[in-house]
Amino acid sequence: RPQPRQHKSCAQNPQTHQKSSKRSVRMATSTTDRQAPPAPVIEGTSKAEQLQEPASIAYTPEWQELLEHRKEIEKTHLRDLLRREERSDALFHEYNGIVADFSRQRVTQKTIELLGKLAKRANLQEKIAGMFSGEHLNVTEDRAVLHVALRARREQKIVVEGKDVVPEVWEVLDKIKDFSERVRSGEWKGATGKPLKDVVAIGIGGSFLGPLFVHTALRTDQSAAHEAGKRNLRFLANVDPVDVARALNGLSQETTLVVVVSKTFTTAETMLNARTVRTWLTSELGPDAVAKHMVAVSTNSKLVTEFGIDPNNAFGFWDWVGGRYSVCSAVGVLPLALQYGWPVVEKFLAGANNMDEHFRTSKFEDNIPLWLGLTSVWNVSFLGYAARAILPYCQALSKLAPHIQQVSMESNGKGVDLAGRRLPFESGEIDFGEPGTNGQHSFYQLIHQGRVIPCEFIGTVKSQQSVYLKGEVVSNHDELMCNFFAQADALANGKTPVELRAENVPDHLIPHKSFTGNRPSVSILMPDLSAFSVGQLLAMYEHRVAVQGMVWGINSFDQWGVELGKVLASKVRTSMNSARTVHRRIKPSDGFNYSTTRLLNTYLAGKTQ
Ligand code: F6P
Repeated sequence: RPQPRQHKSCAQNPQTHQKSSKRSVRMATSTTDRQAPPAPVIEGTSKAEQLQEPASIAYTPEWQELLEHRKEIEKTHLRDLLRREERSDALFHEYNGIVADFSRQRVTQKTIELLGKLAKRANLQEKIAGMFSGEHLNVTEDRAVLHVALRARREQKIVVEGKDVVPEVWEVLDKIKDFSERVRSGEWKGATGKPLKDVVAIGIGGSFLGPLFVHTALRTDQSAAHEAGKRNLRFLANVDPVDVARALNGLSQETTLVVVVSKTFTTAETMLNARTVRTWLTSELGPDAVAKHMVAVSTNSKLVTEFGIDPNNAFGFWDWVGGRYSVCSAVGVLPLALQYGWPVVEKFLAGANNMDEHFRTSKFEDNIPLWLGLTSVWNVSFLGYAARAILPYCQALSKLAPHIQQVSMESNGKGVDLAGRRLPFESGEIDFGEPGTNGQHSFYQLIHQGRVIPCEFIGTVKSQQSVYLKGEVVSNHDELMCNFFAQADALANGKTPVELRAENVPDHLIPHKSFTGNRPSVSILMPDLSAFSVGQLLAMYEHRVAVQGMVWGINSFDQWGVELGKVLASKVRTSMNSARTVHRRIKPSDGFNYSTTRLLNTYLAGKTQ
């Protein structure tokens, strides 16, 4: 098991580390540096330092207690823990139809108490309150983190720097409602007078994954599908021309509305795709078609106008909404309202708001997102599990894992704390997932007998669909859900050689057929998959991620790690363009290393032959 990197004297006295910090010390950069006792501070004074961000949580007695406690937990097995009914009761949480059963986590009452103490030490409650009241938790960009305001009820008040932001949120929502109703009713017509029944939403990352997740979840919900009627919603994200071809395949310009979604309106992929699709429209319908066939969602109204989209056809949001937390802004709400109509979207927002209220107001002991976050911290930082599998037993949730990959990994995959000090532990986990039962026939072998990967099983009591066969209802839902229940226990209990021998398994196969068990999971059971519960699920995950970041003392709301690759791609683009037009080859003076120069020239040679 990995030992959290610990500086002994600091661990004994949490203040020592802070006091000995010197602002002039360089930032640790190499992997080797990361293994060393934490380097004190980066140069300069960061916002977090001005706020006197305390030394890392890893140097507190509460963290130490959990490290010690891990030794006790290592002596336990889930098979035995699950025999204690009162423990299971205490770990079974319920809120407004959603059940979260933590009994298959490797925790005891003592773990819960110690995690509670850690949360207190991390000032978790104050940080959560700070998020809801618009504190600038995103210190590196000096921004509030207020995605909860996007789904605030009309009568709620969220005052930030003396201003209630809820009315401006609803101003945009009202505009979306009005616009989407005009498009859906056919009152808003395309350039040739036809109604617009198909929508292509162009965007990437947070301007794509969340809306895709919600759309995929609702597509087969009977009431949402009924509202969608014969309308189509497609997404175009990748700059790959194949994605463009697939997104536009079979669509007619005359009946297509294009929504360009980009918070910054500078993202290279989105802007190139937007220009490509604009040409697709105007080459058929003429330049004036943009006014009727293209709208935008962005915080950057200047660039939207420069692109040629009428500002009246632009839907704004605010810099206090992070891209990956923007599903409930116009980013998700506009495409979803166009597809499913306003009442469905309203239910989705109400579901998210409902989970926000639970997160904000529930007691510590009963707070589901909070315990999802704290048990994740326990799994990553103390038990050393680096990955997490998101396993919905629900095909409609097939895009949940890709969305949560971004929400979680872009938020919590950080190397330094809020003050810029290198973290003395790894933050974040590797999220991946696939709906059950498909995943069972793919990677479950590894999670049963290979590496230990904490799993999140998500199921619903009712299916979105029943299958009708010769007039009789044949529900496959029970069949699906049998697996949901079975897998969690298979991971927890395992199968011992004694049990195998009792089944007359030959000796030579016993090692192969044994399952060590003791593999943690959480089971989340929802009543159904409706617009409301999808909203709850989305907010639950967003808050889980925030809780983890708040405990680790990192900024879960910036994403500097995506920048370097973008800059290098732009350099490659410049050299490639000049190679194509002038030199035919990348030259050593272009500044790439030998390997990259050779690889680029191989590529260019292939394309130019
Ligand atoms: O490259 C990552 C990222 O910055 C994400 O954080 C963001 O969701 C995505 O790009 C898209 O950004 P935009 O909405 O500004 O086009």
